[in-house]
Amino acid sequence: MHTQTVALTGATGYIASHVVVALAEQGYNLVGFDNLSNSSAAVVERLEQLIDGPFAFHKVDIRDTATIAEALQQHQVDAVIHLAGLKAVGESVDDPLRYYDNNVAGSLSLLTAMRDACVNQLVFSSSATVYDPDQPSPLTETSQLGPINPYGRTKYVVERLIDDVAATSDLRAINLRYFNPVGAHPSGLIGEDPVGTPNNLMPFIMQVASGQRDELSIFGNDYDTPDGTCIRDYIHVTDLANGHVAALNALATVTTSEAINLGTGTGTSVLDVLRAAEQAVDRPIPTRVVERRAGDGAVSFADPALAADRLNWQADLTVAQACVDHWRWQRQNPTGYPDLSG
Ligand code: WQD
Repeated sequence: MHTQTVALTGATGYIASHVVVALAEQGYNLVGFDNLSNSSAAVVERLEQLIDGPFAFHKVDIRDTATIAEALQQHQVDAVIHLAGLKAVGESVDDPLRYYDNNVAGSLSLLTAMRDACVNQLVFSSSATVYDPDQPSPLTETSQLGPINPYGRTKYVVERLIDDVAATSDLRAINLRYFNPVGAHPSGLIGEDPVGTPNNLMPFIMQVASGQRDELSIFGNDYDTPDGTCIRDYIHVTDLANGHVAALNALATVTTSEAINLGTGTGTSVLDVLRAAEQAVDRPIPTRVVERRAGDGAVSFADPALAADRLNWQADLTVAQACVDHWRWQRQNPTGYPDLSG
């Protein structure tokens, strides 16, 4: 059987780097695209260590349609996993033009390149932020959509773009709606390396644990939840990566496009995460309760039933394991990836 060649956009990013490892373990030929605007070239070397073989990497922006089309043809790519995108909610509010340019115009360019190169299989990295935050959890794929920030709206727009192209062409696509990715590969060689101050809970906690930051600000403990802090669906990045392999394998059963949640189906509060992290780092983590963060909803977690049914996939790893793995990455890479920009 022909070994499939898969191209990943945003290949040196947090999620994509873990997807590369999962795909290599399944024997796929791999091509990576990244403009390195939000990640480090050091990831390529780490990946070649982990996958024990070559990894065709192109430093390219997905908005360079002709170059992407040429590379897709050159490598005879069978499918694309599209993970390139900016993903900080607060930043998207301050700079919507940059977010629509990277996330929407970038996806438009990629889909055009795929059409020109006759590549018709796509898995897209979407997000649970496409849902209306007032929708009750567990969230299913038919829960009301209604993003409330520019980042979530770019993901919503790209999903509709993919749906429209798939409806009138031979494109087959799965839009994967991520909940909250956490953790790192057990080797500690790849992990989450946020630029500047981490927006997300887990990397911030780990930087407090490593002494890089003084304390964790807990954004409100007066929510209508058992311990007053917000509840989310924290999914280990290795489970998330395996979900992409499962989606790739399921594309043959897709006629146009489908949206599928990737979550554990379990809600975990901020304080629960904190306790799991303190266990993993074996020390108390200083905290201070401050005012709520604008845009945060009280509860958001997935109904993962459709992923189990359509992808034969479920999350297996726990938040506790994610804390252990994230801490190993943090300890082995206290300042993240080396900066190879010279
Ligand atoms: C989780 C909880 C905070 C930091 C975001 C994006 C979403 C997705 C995942 C891409 C919340 C609390 C956080 C801190 C805190 N990314 N918190 N102190 O907001 O659920 O989702 O990341 O798809 O698009 O919106 O994740 O990690 O920012 O926050 O108390 O320093 O931790 O209030 O309740 P969120 P998060």
